[in-house]
Amino acid sequence: MSQNKLTDRFGRTVNYVRLSVTDRCDFRCVYCMAEEMTFLPRQQVLTLEEIARVARTFVSLGTEKIRLTGGEPLVRKDILELVREIGTYGLRDFAMTTNGSQLPTMAEPLRKAGLKRLNISLDSLDPEKFASITRTGKLSRVLEGIDAAREAEFKGIKLNTVVMKGGNDHEIPDLIEFARRKNVDITFIEEMPLGEISEHDRGQALCTSDEVRDIVRQHHDLIPTPEDSGGPARYYRMPDSPIKVGFISPHSHNFCSTCNRVRVTVEADYCFA
Ligand code: 5AD
Ligand code: SF4
Repeated sequence: MSQNKLTDRFGRTVNYVRLSVTDRCDFRCVYCMAEEMTFLPRQQVLTLEEIARVARTFVSLGTEKIRLTGGEPLVRKDILELVREIGTYGLRDFAMTTNGSQLPTMAEPLRKAGLKRLNISLDSLDPEKFASITRTGKLSRVLEGIDAAREAEFKGIKLNTVVMKGGNDHEIPDLIEFARRKNVDITFIEEMPLGEISEHDRGQALCTSDEVRDIVRQHHDLIPTPEDSGGPARYYRMPDSPIKVGFISPHSHNFCSTCNRVRVTVEADYCFA
């Protein structure tokens, strides 16, 4: 490994890289995408070889953790090949964020290809609500995917829930029970103003992490943990469960000073040749 550490202008060391492998997705979550989306033309999307080259370069500069994101990374056809390649880089951590829809068939191959951890989005346990939030998603597939991921014995599985007031906030206790039962971590996320979406009023939908914590505390003790991934989540534990409960609070807490990550989009702005 190289001695050159990647440090930004604010003195923050970058050892974690998030690589987007596609801007496409099979879902159209209301807080993320418009119903009708225009995606990048194929020739403007990095090839597998180009993504691997970016990954290798970061690793040579001290990156110890890579997360593959999208869009939905599993809609990319050559994803297993990329995972297999990055799996040979000897990373301390290698993770993926997914909506879970392809996991029923992909969980085991991904684990075998060297992926260590999964974050799976889950905003609702009610099939109709799930369909209305994701527009095109099917809850039963994602639940199957979560079980497939558990069977594939990933080193860590975490659920991500974007909390929307009047949308899914009433499901917080059920989601906690689900995570406890499945023995997976869960993180509640305040909605961030990302993407160009018009139909969805963000001001109305904000449910702060403090509010979510208060709801959880009506059912369980939450003990703050000192764990710090360098990332934006604050983690808690419950006295009677091994799972962690995280909160990501872009609105109510500023976490930029400890940021350790770089985000790379899949858009090819110039030629790497
Ligand atoms: N605000 C907060 N979280 C978001 N996600 C996607 N868009 C937003 C947004 N606008 C979440 C997804 C997924 C993870 C990749 O980010 O729900 O869990
Ligand atoms: Fe797809 Fe994730 Fe965006 Fe939902 S939040 S539309 S699953 S990329």
